[in-house]
Amino acid sequence: MSRFDGPFAFRPALRAGARFSREAKDRPILTFESVFKSYRSGSPVLRGVHLTIERGEFVFVTGPSGAGKSTLLRLLYRSETVDDGRILFLGKDVARLKDDAIPFLRRNIGVVFQDFKLVPAWSVYENVAVALEVLSLPTRLVRTRVGEALERVGLSGRGDDLAGVLSGGEQQRVAIARAIVGEPALILADEPTGNLDPQLAIDILGLFEEIHEGGTTVVFATHDRTLLEVRPRRVVVLDEGKALDVPQGIAIDSDDHYRLPN
Ligand SMILES: Nc1ncnc2c1ncn2[C@@H]1O[C@H](COP(=O)(O)OP(=O)(O)OP(=O)(O)O)[C@@H](O)[C@H]1O
Ligand SMILES: [Mg+2]
Repeated sequence: MSRFDGPFAFRPALRAGARFSREAKDRPILTFESVFKSYRSGSPVLRGVHLTIERGEFVFVTGPSGAGKSTLLRLLYRSETVDDGRILFLGKDVARLKDDAIPFLRRNIGVVFQDFKLVPAWSVYENVAVALEVLSLPTRLVRTRVGEALERVGLSGRGDDLAGVLSGGEQQRVAIARAIVGEPALILADEPTGNLDPQLAIDILGLFEEIHEGGTTVVFATHDRTLLEVRPRRVVVLDEGKALDVPQGIAIDSDDHYRLPN
């Protein structure tokens, strides 16, 4: 038994929320409460971020370079720790999880990065299957899951190819398959289209939207104005250490200024 919940040997236990506290299903999936973070004294990056994200939402996070978008995401999957405040994810305070609980946190969060972070010498299959290693599933089940994930990202039949020979767009699809194969409750994407040309960027956004339609909560950090404008969605703007919530989405004018609705 894990510290969070019961055994996790079969599919239902891989589903969103099953491994954290049971009451969590009635609360927002994610809440930032007065979160502060600085890397150097005297120049705080986050200065009291408050933010609530409900289960099943798709939220863009934007803001100028250096505003703390990546920091916000890193705090959430505990690659950094907060200086002060709480980050409640599925009912647990991420900031205070003991180190040995972090694998359980990461099972519930899939992360996609700008630079894909694949192992180029591994096959596509191996790059995706690695995310299931922590679950110690039978090989047959791993094969089925990886096959399904590759199908969802449009890469059926590419499992044997070396990741390093794929195009950028294909590599990002592999990274997305790796993020979703464990059926996490939450997907975090940090500038996932930053290395892709504009049409590919829109295709990849579409893929995240399909994943979202399947019920997964998505937090998507980007400063790509085309993506922000392509659909009106909730946007969280990080600026000067605070999070400004814009439920109906934003427009960006030609000077790169955000135009917020009145
Ligand atoms: N490990 C670190 N050590 C010191 N300073 C850091 C570290 N990581 C980030 N910073 C600083 O914190 C600030 C916020 O960085 P962060 O990467 O979160 O911004 P961002 O909004 O993601 O920017 P971008 O749009 O360029 O990706 C920046 O000033 C950055 O230099
Ligand atoms: Mg960043």
